[in-house]
Amino acid sequence: MKKKVLGISFGRKMSNCDVMVKHALMECEKEGCETAFIRADDLNISNCTGCIACVIGMVTGRGRGYCVRHDDFDILDECIMQSDAVILACPTYETSVTGRFKTICDRIGPSHDITFRKALYDEGVAAGRPESELPDVRSFKKRSAALISVGGAMTENWIALTLPMMYEFTFPMAIDVIDAVEYYGAMAHESVLGYPEMMDRMTKVGQNIVASINAETEEDRIAWRGDEEGACPLCHTRLLQLSHDAKTVDCVVCGSHGTFTVDEEGKLRIHYTKEEMDRSRLRWGGKLEHSTEIKTQAQPTGSIKGLKEMKAPYAAFNPGVFATDETAFGNVKK
Ligand SMILES: Cc1cc2nc3c(=O)[nH]c(=O)nc-3n(C[C@H](O)[C@H](O)[C@H](O)COP(=O)(O)O)c2cc1C
Repeated sequence: MKKKVLGISFGRKMSNCDVMVKHALMECEKEGCETAFIRADDLNISNCTGCIACVIGMVTGRGRGYCVRHDDFDILDECIMQSDAVILACPTYETSVTGRFKTICDRIGPSHDITFRKALYDEGVAAGRPESELPDVRSFKKRSAALISVGGAMTENWIALTLPMMYEFTFPMAIDVIDAVEYYGAMAHESVLGYPEMMDRMTKVGQNIVASINAETEEDRIAWRGDEEGACPLCHTRLLQLSHDAKTVDCVVCGSHGTFTVDEEGKLRIHYTKEEMDRSRLRWGGKLEHSTEIKTQAQPTGSIKGLKEMKAPYAAFNPGVFATDETAFGNVKK
């Protein structure tokens, strides 16, 4: 059976992200894969309301880990479930991902967290429950990803948060990111078509994805194929946070905690112990630690005594919005 690669563009219609994803998909097709393409803005996907019915359903065994809402997220979800790899391209809006990208990430996790889903699945199988009542078994398939961030600014730091944020799409389902590209200076719709080196890099993205999904060993499948090693030895991003005492660092993206040294060339080197790497949210252990703390330590709703009285002043306090200043030249329609 042909391997399936799903491309998702979060950009404008027929603009940089669309072209870049499609180019990489075409390369995958040349190499014998079946492809699908989604432009995220063509889908009608509503925001997560924070009802946490997805999590409660998984923890109590009454649900399958799905959102109570049915909208076009279901189309996206089915495509992800069928895929062996995903190629995502997202424009930079205000130094980070677009609102729709974040909306989709919120709808993916925690409902798609594989440690929540697997526990429920295994318990269900052990209890003899039918597959139709359990989380989709395709949730546990090994998948690879390539991430592409695009920005219009000519200065690279204006796209700094986009690529790191894109891991929010992949980590709940443990999709392994094997390649990543940051492209800035792309304000015009067609910018990338005038930049042959970047189009060649998209050919390489397609080839890297094909090499990953056809790899014979798991080690080769997840091998990093990006241009740079990055700062984080695990996720290869460059967004590190200094600890409060300024002696250690955390990777903001993958949650690994480690120490740093400066080598003889003056380069900052990050060091993680194996134990710390296994606590990363990119790995089973890190995800399990998190889902277990949610299951066992999160304070249940309604457990605070005298809550009704304590809430009353806040429920009664509703100052509303400021009245429009008619003397100012704002944008409220008169
Ligand atoms: C609301 C908004 C905010 C933007 N903010 C940034 C930014 O912070 N940094 C940047 O490099 N480009 C920014 N851009 C430019 C887009 O990232 C750029 O046009 C990109 O090419 C869009 O991708 P597309 O061509 O695939 O639609 C912004 C564009 C919009 C519409």
